[in-house]
Amino acid sequence: MDKFIITGPTALRGEISISGSKNAALPLMAAALLGETPSTLTLIPRLKDILTFSEVIRETGTAIDFMEQNNSMLIDPSTLSRNEAPYELVRRMRASFYMLGALLGRSGNARISLPGGCAWGPRPVDLHLKGFESMGVKIDLDTGYVSAALPSETLEGGEFTLNPSSVGATVNLILGAVKRTRRFVLKNAAREPDVVLLCRMLVKMGADIEGIGTGTLVIRKVDKLDGVTFSNDPDRIETGTYMIAAAMHPDSEITLTGCKPEDLGEFPGWFIKTGAELEIIGSTIRVKAPEVIRPVSVKTKIYPGFPTDLQAQWATLMTQAEGSSTVTDSVYFDRFSYVPELNRLGGKLRVKNNSVTIDGRSRLQGAAVMSTDLRASVSLVNAAMCAHGQSEILRVYHLDRGYEQLEKKLNRAGASILRVKD
Ligand code: UD1
Repeated sequence: MDKFIITGPTALRGEISISGSKNAALPLMAAALLGETPSTLTLIPRLKDILTFSEVIRETGTAIDFMEQNNSMLIDPSTLSRNEAPYELVRRMRASFYMLGALLGRSGNARISLPGGCAWGPRPVDLHLKGFESMGVKIDLDTGYVSAALPSETLEGGEFTLNPSSVGATVNLILGAVKRTRRFVLKNAAREPDVVLLCRMLVKMGADIEGIGTGTLVIRKVDKLDGVTFSNDPDRIETGTYMIAAAMHPDSEITLTGCKPEDLGEFPGWFIKTGAELEIIGSTIRVKAPEVIRPVSVKTKIYPGFPTDLQAQWATLMTQAEGSSTVTDSVYFDRFSYVPELNRLGGKLRVKNNSVTIDGRSRLQGAAVMSTDLRASVSLVNAAMCAHGQSEILRVYHLDRGYEQLEKKLNRAGASILRVKD
């Protein structure tokens, strides 16, 4: 397993280009399975999760050609012949569960492994299953697998309310409904940009979806969807991560290019409360660090609220603020595995229930740290760039799942990150 050796503190200066969104790309890849003809997706990031999901899709007999050099991917489902996603692959990435909706939509039946545990605590899929059942899909659970089948070619559909709102369940149910339900109404649907983008691609393919971008989606069956050429969007979480990284060192000033600022929801509003300078011009975001970071308490919410995928990075930023703040995660209650590691670097963080209190400002000192998930890992990288001396970040594979060329991008902007093959 590779590790990073990071020497700090270093300021970030210059330009960083933003890659295509990981979380948006996965539903688009699943949607391509519903087309009669091949689809070409562009702005697909070269990431481990994308490669894993490609493997999951290939298992069905679908042909995928990922032209990594230009971030485009051709998906030809015409040879799809197996309606299964095995545990061996699904356990590596929960989003593989999107195959349930995609295969139900395409073939009318699917056998998908249940995703199993997760480093953030329980992450159930009950809403996915209840939603499908409410549509009329027959669901059986057997030895860790979900077997799903349509009792007839077309289902009536009906209505289902997500409580809580879930990105994954929304994606899965949309994929299952577009070719199969006469009229399916999904209430409290996720409004995250990833869901909106999926709906736009499906509409381009020929789907009938009303209420895109709102909490109520009305989906009416169409008989045929065509393959399309469709562009993924820039990664809003990568954008937020680098904005936060740039705010941490008083000499940092960076320009992020190729962004989609309107996908950031309320995040920029929280960000400027720290005193950081923010300038948004078209797809470019310029960030200048504040001389003194003001403590800003946040609570994660569904979109457009503060994203849970930026809470670890925010708590890390708050170690450098002059004063105390609290970060509360109301989406995932147990997403604080990074806290003991940040404390090893000299942070003063205390977790109580689903909140962490951060007493700033701490002088961070390099140390060896390890992490358990993607956003926790990148937070440790941000912290190590601010820490005095050398840090070792173990288990870099988490970062390779979700940040394209992380060390190259940061090193070009002045960081000192060395990847060591272990
Ligand atoms: C997606 C993102 C993840 C992000 C999360 C919240 C991908 C691949 N992952 O995950 O990065 O942190 O959205 O923005 O896009 N829930 C249930 N039952 C279910 C499904 C969800 O109770 O069947 C709950 C979850 O426990 C959680 C909440 O709903 O408390 C939201 O989870 P959800 O939006 O489903 O997250 P994911 O789609 O798994």
